[in-house]
Amino acid sequence: MKEKIAALKKSKNAIILAHYYTRPEVQEIADFVGDSLALSQKAATTDADIILFAGVHFMAETAKILNPTKKVLIPDLSAGCSLADSCPDEDFARFLEKYSGYTVLSYINCSARVKAMSDIIVTSGNALRIVNALPKDEKIVFAPDLNLGRYINEKTGRNMVLWDGACHVHDHICPADIEEAKRQHPDAVVIAHPECPKSVLALADVIGSTAAMLKDVAASDATEFIVVTEEGIMHELLKRNPDKKFYTVTPRSEHGDCVNCQYMKQNTLENICRALETEQPELLLDAALMDRARRPIEKMLSLS
Ligand code: 13P
Ligand code: SF4
Repeated sequence: MKEKIAALKKSKNAIILAHYYTRPEVQEIADFVGDSLALSQKAATTDADIILFAGVHFMAETAKILNPTKKVLIPDLSAGCSLADSCPDEDFARFLEKYSGYTVLSYINCSARVKAMSDIIVTSGNALRIVNALPKDEKIVFAPDLNLGRYINEKTGRNMVLWDGACHVHDHICPADIEEAKRQHPDAVVIAHPECPKSVLALADVIGSTAAMLKDVAASDATEFIVVTEEGIMHELLKRNPDKKFYTVTPRSEHGDCVNCQYMKQNTLENICRALETEQPELLLDAALMDRARRPIEKMLSLS
């Protein structure tokens, strides 16, 4: 399967972009693995004819918006994102009616339609920098992630109006899960994604995007880490730091006992191979919608 994928990539001049949360074997066949920011930067600049996006729907949309002449394939069109789904565009449009004159800042985990209603897109890798660069008295609406919005407000001293959305994977991690992991590994450093609830972030030593976590772990003298984000990142953490130890948390929620994004796991070697072979499913978007959604993403890239 891996050889077939490599041959198809070559013959079709295709590039495979994958997020750190995808399956290890998917990360291994990708040409580039990254966080949302790095993946959008890569999508904007690639000269491949086909971009196969092993991630979730909003990521493939972003790639298409940034490079509309390319064919963008997503192995499973139904690989969505609970956070993006927590902000339906009609509801968001009604919400914004109350906040005319506000700058609309949206986290990249949202639909193209929500991006089209936004002034600037941010990722967890650049949100603090971008918000800090805005005038102190700027009135801001932030969507869709409430936890990330609260974290940005706290770190920047802003009072952004927040949409009440969440990621089902991160939002269901509890302080008790971290405390339990700390009991088992008292010397481990706790690294957490800012999509986690405030009560969880309060127990973290380091907070950052997936790429920031990887950078911090590499720079740290510590040898043990409790990883408070989707477990797919363990693959890259172990690959880059074979001498360090990493522990996931075990949440006790209705979403199961592991920190697993089922949407990311919908990307498999089988459907990637099939997508390259058939050049389907292709991610298609309305041209006018793409033009509107491109401005806030390009604004982000210019500030990153
Ligand atoms: P990163 O931008 O940190 O990779 O996060 C993406 C994501 O979907 C987190 O749940
Ligand atoms: Fe969306 Fe959460 Fe999955 Fe990230 S982990 S892609 S925010 S559902």
